[in-house]
Amino acid sequence: MTEIIEADSREEYMPLLLIGDEQEEMVRKYLDRCELWLLMEEGEIRALCAVTDEGNGTLELKNIAVYPVFQHRGYGRKLIEFVCSRYSGTFSRLIAGTGDSPLTVPFYEKCGFVCIRTVKNWFTENYDHPIFEEGVQLRDMLIFEKDLEV
Ligand SMILES: CC(C)(COP(=O)(O)OP(=O)(O)OC[C@H]1O[C@@H](n2cnc3c(N)ncnc32)[C@H](O)[C@@H]1OP(=O)(O)O)[C@@H](O)C(=O)NCCC(=O)NCCS
Repeated sequence: MTEIIEADSREEYMPLLLIGDEQEEMVRKYLDRCELWLLMEEGEIRALCAVTDEGNGTLELKNIAVYPVFQHRGYGRKLIEFVCSRYSGTFSRLIAGTGDSPLTVPFYEKCGFVCIRTVKNWFTENYDHPIFEEGVQLRDMLIFEKDLEV
């Protein structure tokens, strides 16, 4: 049985958070102000996500990560569906920033997000090392949006 519960601590989840965002300093920028949700199955954590209130009805997905052995089994989608259901009525939209990567863009699109803008050179200017996914260096950040039912 899958259950999604709110984490009441933070530090112990850093290894999983770093799968979603590999620079710890960037994770720490939102760690204390996020709500952190854990997806559990058979009593074990399989995935998590972190969301923050960005004001004006905007909820931001700051991190979503599934342990590599459990990826592509629908856990990421379950977390997105949970967040949409949990926060609709309170927030009007969910946004998520990601690199222009074949590992993440199709996931957000399949989950109903649309790309609304691009922040040029965000990864090259804000990370202390180059980030590669599938052999391609991430440079720009794509901002995805999904409407939440009010
Ligand atoms: C990205 C991530 C959160 C997706 O979670 P997941 O559990 O593997 O994805 P799901 O199995 O729920 O996939 C949902 C849909 O997206 C599609 N999808 C997911 N990853 C994909 C990929 N790399 N390429 C194409 N489609 C993909 C799935 O096929 C599925 O579509 P379907 O429901 O029509 O079959 C997960 O792979 C992960 O933790 N990656 C590493 C961390 C990361 O990059 N986090 C995002 C930071 S922005």
